[in-house]
Amino acid sequence: MFIIKIVFLDKLSDMQKKELRISVEEYSSLEELPAADRELVLAARDASRNAYAPYSQFHVGAALRLENGEIFKGNNQENSSFTTGLCAERVALFYANATLPDLSVKSIAVTAENSHGLVPDPVKPCGSCRQAMVETETRFRQPMRIILDGKSKIQVFNGVENLLPFAFKPASLG
Ligand code: THU
Repeated sequence: MFIIKIVFLDKLSDMQKKELRISVEEYSSLEELPAADRELVLAARDASRNAYAPYSQFHVGAALRLENGEIFKGNNQENSSFTTGLCAERVALFYANATLPDLSVKSIAVTAENSHGLVPDPVKPCGSCRQAMVETETRFRQPMRIILDGKSKIQVFNGVENLLPFAFKPASLG
């Protein structure tokens, strides 16, 4: 009788595999949102109407709430030299931080309209805007509530870590 022994070597190195948990709240309509978030989304929609987007026709609006309750708005500002333009989120963040630098940002809502109206899926902040949000959270030592508007649903992320894990932070500078 032959005995064949099969040995599975599934641990060839000290490599560790980890899985991250991303948390997102989803609301099916504006009416379902908590009142403060709803107010911010409406402010972002209002801001998107003043976007300067002659090249993309993609009108983005952002509105953020500071710790004193004040709302600051921003929208995308494009340029014929494309890389000179700036996204709505960073316009709003820099505007608020330049005006009231000591007040923390509690939440930010973002919306976008294309030629068909409000985008179907919740708008997603670009990588640079996510990085700017990381800096804001680091600066004020607290997570932000990030509300992303869309026709089919509205997504809410509590903390930018849910949008940009493994971010570059001041600590990364060593
Ligand atoms: N845009 C934003 O304002 N925010 C984002 O997070 C993504 C993109 C703008 C930049 C540009 O004016 C237009 O949308 C198309 O990319």
